[in-house]
Amino acid sequence: MERVRVGIVGAGFAARLHLDGWRRVHGVRAEVVAVTCAHPDRAEAFAREHGIDAAVASLDALLDLPVDVVDVCVPNHLHSDHARRALAAGKHVVVEKPLTGCFVARRDATAERMLHDALADADALVAAADAAGRWCCYAENWVYAPPVAKADALLAEAGGTILRIQGEESHSGTHSEPNKHWVTAGGGALLGKGCHPLGAALHLKAQEGRRRDGRPIVPRSVIAQTASLTRVEAFAAEAHKYLRTGYEDVEDWGLLVCTFSDGTVAEVVGGDVTLGGVRNRMTVYGSRVVVEANLNPNSAGARVRARRGRARRRVPQREARDPRRLVVTRARRGLDAGLPAGDAGLRRGRRVRPPAA
Ligand SMILES: NC(=O)c1ccc[n+]([C@@H]2O[C@H](COP(=O)([O-])OP(=O)(O)OC[C@H]3O[C@@H](n4cnc5c(N)ncnc54)[C@H](O)[C@@H]3O)[C@@H](O)[C@H]2O)c1
Repeated sequence: MERVRVGIVGAGFAARLHLDGWRRVHGVRAEVVAVTCAHPDRAEAFAREHGIDAAVASLDALLDLPVDVVDVCVPNHLHSDHARRALAAGKHVVVEKPLTGCFVARRDATAERMLHDALADADALVAAADAAGRWCCYAENWVYAPPVAKADALLAEAGGTILRIQGEESHSGTHSEPNKHWVTAGGGALLGKGCHPLGAALHLKAQEGRRRDGRPIVPRSVIAQTASLTRVEAFAAEAHKYLRTGYEDVEDWGLLVCTFSDGTVAEVVGGDVTLGGVRNRMTVYGSRVVVEANLNPNSAGARVRARRGRARRRVPQREARDPRRLVVTRARRGLDAGLPAGDAGLRRGRRVRPPAA
């Protein structure tokens, strides 16, 4: 079996997710063989804990090792630089989200500058991959998440037009300090969390276009609104905070509306002000089907209430046993409601999975 040697840059939250992912890859022997991060002791601890052969002091030292893929799991402002250095050293690259952006002080981040910097940097990254003849893989995990992949399959079966997509990723606030500053994050919740439902929406509309016309449907325009909700007076005055705070100059909530080239829309929310764990969900309103993709497990009927110390979440036992049940049941209801009886799409939809007991 082919062997792929991976070096991870970063030893924080995303690095752990990726390590877990690499160890589940099948069909190829993917082995994480090296790690580096900004703190050598943490890289060593990460390597020890996870049985990784080498913990090295810098990206350059990692690039000197015989690794095939460099997995970039560092703060946003380093993505493009690290990815390009790895490509120049002849490595394939996986880059975390957001691919890149505009990393200047917030007061200098005008709309024109943001658009210019993000596009120029993304183009440079693509050019670097082309020049090196190596893969540069953008790790948008929502596109591969089973509920989104299922949504895509159901939409393909039902046919018709995706008229509207509504998606959200939010939780109670970032754990990572660089995400609180524009110079290192390039934006707040809308960029850091909204990029996931946006990525899935772009994917689903592109797929619709490829299926029907042989070419992707692409975004035409975007409008957005952001806010700093953890700075409103009433919240600031509360004695106990159950949400994370301390955002220097980035938003903690944002909404964008993306209009596609065919005139249809996606409404995307990213938020750092949601109690009770990650809220990852997407509803696709098609002309022949409505599909709900619920990416967070165990959310059916969840009740979240603040208590001193932490937010608590209660979940019905049946959903806790089978987190996929809700997604599938709702998807099936959407097919039932959206298609005439006897329609082939409906019959195929029924075979997806038996309804919940
Ligand atoms: N896809 C997802 O669901 C998801 C989830 C969380 C984070 N992320 C992304 O992953 C990236 C990392 O986020 P995180 O949550 O792991 O942050 P984190 O703060 O937990 O970890 C960041 C890591 O980067 C290292 N680092 C910082 N500067 C470095 C440098 N110059 N050289 C080498 N290492 C350096 C730090 O030492 C740390 O180990 C971010 O871009 C974030 O947007 C993606």
